[in-house]
Amino acid sequence: MKKHSALFITAIALFILFGGCNTEQNQEIGTSEYQQKVDSLIKIMTLDEKIGQLNLLASGWDVTGPVMDPNYKQLIKQGNAGAVFNAYGVDYVTELQRLAVEETRLGIPLLFGYDVIHGYKTIFPIPLAQSCSWDLEMIEHSDRIAATEATAEGINWVFAPMVDISRDPRWGRVSEGAGEDTWLGSKIAAARVNGFQGNNLADEQTLLATMKHFAAYGAPQAGRDYHTVDISERSLLEYYLPPFKACVDAGVASVMTSFNEISGVPSSSNHWLYTELLRNTWGFKGFVVTDYTSIYELIPHGVAQDSAHAGELALKAGIQLDMQSSIFIKNLKNLVKSGKISEKLIDKAVSDILLAKYKLGLFDDPYRYCNKTREGNEIMTQASKDFARQFVTKSCVLLKNENQTLPIPETVKKIALIGPLGNAAEDMLGNWSAAGWAQYCVTLFDGLKAEAVDKNIQIHYEKGCEIVGLSTSGFDAAIKAAKNADFVILALGEDRNMSGEAASRTNLNLPGVQMQLAEKIIEIGKPTAVVLFNGRPLTIPELDQKAPAILEAWFGGIQSGSGIADLLFGKALPSGKLTMTFPHNVGQIPIHYNMKNNGRPVDPTNPEYRFRSKYLDSPNQPLYPFGYGLSYTNFSYSNLKISSPEIRATDTLTIQVTVSNTGKSDGEEIVQLYIRDLVGSVTRPINELKGFSKVFLKQGETRDVIFKITANDLKFFNLDMEYTYEPGKFDLMVGPNSASGLKDSFSLR
Ligand code: NOJ
Repeated sequence: MKKHSALFITAIALFILFGGCNTEQNQEIGTSEYQQKVDSLIKIMTLDEKIGQLNLLASGWDVTGPVMDPNYKQLIKQGNAGAVFNAYGVDYVTELQRLAVEETRLGIPLLFGYDVIHGYKTIFPIPLAQSCSWDLEMIEHSDRIAATEATAEGINWVFAPMVDISRDPRWGRVSEGAGEDTWLGSKIAAARVNGFQGNNLADEQTLLATMKHFAAYGAPQAGRDYHTVDISERSLLEYYLPPFKACVDAGVASVMTSFNEISGVPSSSNHWLYTELLRNTWGFKGFVVTDYTSIYELIPHGVAQDSAHAGELALKAGIQLDMQSSIFIKNLKNLVKSGKISEKLIDKAVSDILLAKYKLGLFDDPYRYCNKTREGNEIMTQASKDFARQFVTKSCVLLKNENQTLPIPETVKKIALIGPLGNAAEDMLGNWSAAGWAQYCVTLFDGLKAEAVDKNIQIHYEKGCEIVGLSTSGFDAAIKAAKNADFVILALGEDRNMSGEAASRTNLNLPGVQMQLAEKIIEIGKPTAVVLFNGRPLTIPELDQKAPAILEAWFGGIQSGSGIADLLFGKALPSGKLTMTFPHNVGQIPIHYNMKNNGRPVDPTNPEYRFRSKYLDSPNQPLYPFGYGLSYTNFSYSNLKISSPEIRATDTLTIQVTVSNTGKSDGEEIVQLYIRDLVGSVTRPINELKGFSKVFLKQGETRDVIFKITANDLKFFNLDMEYTYEPGKFDLMVGPNSASGLKDSFSLR
């Protein structure tokens, strides 16, 4: 009898799960119809089956943290997993999906998640580099390609975009984000959600995106990863949360918790963050996943006494999918039985997860992302590789170019490439390289050689030294190569694992003996350009003083070397601008362009006066400010005009500026608009980015650039924490970076 009823239930379940299994039809089904299906399914699920859906397991591959339960295949068969991550490739995903679909009672398909942070197999520049392109279309397109490739190999959910604002380059994870600015970061966040999700999740080339790490993970004390965050409510709301809100507005499907606490409450137990703000205020409709073992970490955080308590706190806060703690599967049943949590909370979590599976079309066809033909045809296409190469050229930032050292003059016939990053294929991938392989990477040496063939240029490579380590035994050969060349390229920086997760540094100088190598080579006096590979701003004032030219290349992915060679030879034009301030020294951190004025700012007419906000041993200004970046040509700004010196709240202010290419080549400029609210009910930053425009100007060309702002753009959290604008006077600046430009002012009535 028992057996019969189980069979009967299973038959109903299959009918519900696979009823209407035509994808095209399903594309037209609205969320409410899916919701009905979800509700019916939940009605026939046992408590164990429900709890199983709330478990996210790492497969044995590519583990990105401590493994709590290596027995993942068994757990899937037992119905103890709703999702798996770090498993990819059609065969492997099919094998795991089969365990869920064929060996569990209800056959509910799994989600397959993966860290697709800057490309899947076609690896693009790291996100920080991408942000320096200020090119929202390219950023979106790169994630479109990433989604296409990932879905061709079984993935239907990515742990991206990472939208943490950070003002601390000691924190290695700045490489994964869009830099220090909230306004730009929010635009990029939305572009990336659109890139991954497209406008139809049922399309087989789109997948679920995850905004992470909610919230304020980018502000750890002392830049130390996973460390405490102590932040004012105002800063949280104004600087750290808006990129997340932008993702929610763009329809992001899931959100990942952060490892840190806010005001004494770790994210994975933060009811205010996950229920009151995210769901009730912002209207988030997707599901919430924890970061790796974060529910368990409520114990060492000191807010949970044991696993059961941790599970209770997390579920009550609004956390739904447990990544790698196994705390939900081990404790939720007892918590329901003992009355500590209501089954309704579990139903809500299950519902949100199942809804995502329906939207992806997994109930129509659990293997719809396991398509051998797509796997064979849609990965690393020529078009993707060409795009990756172009993206490298847009992401690099020219930091210095004395006497037009770059581009390499046509007369050059012998180039010495020197430095530990000159032929470092794996490092080009940057951190979080998904399914990317070093063997696909074009190193700088490869890129230069490919370009040099037609030009009849010899390229000689000498490593000179290791990235870290104190040996100078390679210096002599490097010096000899430099002396023998008529142009020198120094490839210096960090290795790829010196940024990313668990990669905080207290010293941001070039590691090892690289600066010594650079000094020895530069002093030979050959025209020398430094190419920097790194995942964060570095402190390089000596290099800036001594090197004739510096190109910040970050980690550019598989086409790094080709794109950089295009720039060095002048086939492409540098146009990137920094999205993170480069400090002179670590003592200046946190340093960012939108700081406050304070009560004792330095008086420019008497800068030495002691009792002002400054250092005894360092300037206040950074080495390179936010928004900074050079081109091979020069741009001049003139004729700044505003439509009116005074606007009302309903008006639009038009700002016009003339930008001219006055140099000797074509070029692309990122024209930036900043404002400053001079007096508010609370203090306001000295500068706030409010707009930008990328303009390509041929040599000698002049163009008017127009910006428009309204009172909405002037809003902030006032004294009463209302998000509003206040009448008063505003300065505005239009220019090439956050530290220079033409100025005017206007009033809001
Ligand atoms: C920990 C990282 O913080 C997170 O960003 C990542 O998505 C997960 N591990 C999964 O790999």
